[in-house]
Amino acid sequence: MRIFCEKDYVSLSRRAADIIIGAVNKKPDCVLGLATGSTPIGVYDMLSSACAAGKVSFARVRTVNLDEYMGLAAGDPASYRAFMNEHLFRRIDIDIANTHIPDASAGDENIRCARYDALIESLGGVDLQLLGIGRNGHIGFNEPSPYFSVGTHEAELSQSTRRANAAFFGNDENAVPKSAITMGIGSIMKARSILLLASGEAKREALTRAVRGNVDPMVPASVLQLHGDVSVICDFQID
Ligand code: GLP
Repeated sequence: MRIFCEKDYVSLSRRAADIIIGAVNKKPDCVLGLATGSTPIGVYDMLSSACAAGKVSFARVRTVNLDEYMGLAAGDPASYRAFMNEHLFRRIDIDIANTHIPDASAGDENIRCARYDALIESLGGVDLQLLGIGRNGHIGFNEPSPYFSVGTHEAELSQSTRRANAAFFGNDENAVPKSAITMGIGSIMKARSILLLASGEAKREALTRAVRGNVDPMVPASVLQLHGDVSVICDFQID
């Protein structure tokens, strides 16, 4: 595990964007695993600028996102599909048909989850997975739990996660959906390379426990210690 403690959010975003641009330039048809939340917005801005400047092309890139809220109407501006379109997909030269987000519409979620895992397999697996981290150490929507999840599944969101994500729902935590479809810890660990971002003091404790503590499903991100190719980028110091 490589840990980069950057001086601020811009430097964190720059380092992450450079790693992603390097991966795409090396393998133009790579599969990127993408994340939502406020943390990667700076990275997405830099990727959009680099694409506009001709420094990278996403024309052949395929993407799979980590998660999607359950129970939102198609096209809801708070959905992760809307977030990705706004912050990245509409601003780069990617073919929108090559962008994938878990299907959180009504129906049998077991079938839809199995289809998402099969889709990732059919794309050849994820080359580079971008992750944020929740204040309780969650990745994707894999909340603290007595065991590590395996594949894509429906996850109940903790109250603290709903509170943390209320900013995207008019600061009303009751408006945040109670569950989501998320890639599992097993799916995330299959990525060939992983990039974990943590910005702001509020993430220091979770990140420190994830990279310095025991591997423990009550701190889901700690599982990344068992992966052979992880870069962690934060904008604070950790001991
Ligand atoms: C949500 C997402 C996670 C993300 C987390 C942190 O729970 N499902 O993928 O890492 O929020 O978000 P933020 O970057 O806004 O702190």
